[in-house]
Amino acid sequence: MPARLIVVTGTGTGIGKTHLAEALVLAWRRRLPRVAGVKPVESGVTDPRESDTERLRRASSFHVKHGDLFFPDPVSPHLAARRAGTLLTVPALVRAVAEARALADGVVAELPGGLFTPLAPDLINADLVQRLEPDSVLLAAPDRLGVLHDVNATVRAASALGLALAGVVLIAPEHPDASTGTNAAELSHFVPIPVLVTVPRAAPADLIPIVDPLLGPRVATPTSAVAP
Ligand SMILES: Nc1ncnc2c1ncn2[C@@H]1O[C@H](COP(=O)(O)OP(=O)(O)O)[C@@H](O)[C@H]1O
Ligand SMILES: [Mg+2]
Repeated sequence: MPARLIVVTGTGTGIGKTHLAEALVLAWRRRLPRVAGVKPVESGVTDPRESDTERLRRASSFHVKHGDLFFPDPVSPHLAARRAGTLLTVPALVRAVAEARALADGVVAELPGGLFTPLAPDLINADLVQRLEPDSVLLAAPDRLGVLHDVNATVRAASALGLALAGVVLIAPEHPDASTGTNAAELSHFVPIPVLVTVPRAAPADLIPIVDPLLGPRVATPTSAVAP
C-alpha cells in the first residue's frame, strides 16, 4: 500500500512551510517507522546543505534518492528551471514524490512557494496537488496582517478548481503585528475551511505535540485493540 501523503503548501514563501513540514515529519515518526519529508522541486539552491530538501531529509527516518530538480536562481521554480535550460513536467514532479510514497509509510511533501505558484508555462502547484492525490493538503499562512486576504483568495481559487484543502495552519511570524493572535478567529468568519492550529515560534522538535493532531486520528493496532 502506498504511504499516506500530506502536502504542505501555503499562501507564499518564507512563511514557515518547511518548518511546519519538519515538525510534521518528526511527529509522524512517533507513529510510523518510515517517514520521509520531500520537496519535489526547489529553486534558490546554491548550497545543497542549506536547502529545504536537506532540512526535510535531516528530519526524516526514511531517505529516498534526491531527484535532480534543484535550481540555483532564487526565483519562481518555472523561471529558475527555464534559466537552467529545462522545463518542469508533471511526470518528473510526481515521480519525485511517488518514489518516496512507494517505499515509506508516511510522506510529507512541501511544495515551493504558494498554491498558485507557477511550475511551468501551463502548470501551477495546484495542478500538481491534484495529480499527487494526497490524503491531506495543509494551507500554511503567517499569523500577520494581510493573511485574511491571502487565505480568502487562495481558498476561493482552490475551490474553483475543485481542490479540497484540509484546513489552514497559521504560523506565528518572527515579527508579530497588531493582527497577530486575532487572525484565527477572524478567518473563521470568512473561509469555509477550518483553522486547524496556530503554530508558535519554537524549534520543530518542540512543535511535535502541537502538529500531531494534523496527522489525523491514531489508528488502533491489533495490540492496542480492546478485547470484547
Ligand atoms: N514556528 C516557527 N518557529 C521558529 N522559527 C520558524 C517558525 N516558522 C518558520 N520559522 C523560521 O523562519 C524561516 C522561514 O521559514 P521556512 O520554513 O523556511 O519558510 P518557507 O518554507 O515557507 O519558505 C526559517 O528560518 C524557519 O526556520
Ligand atoms: Mg520552504
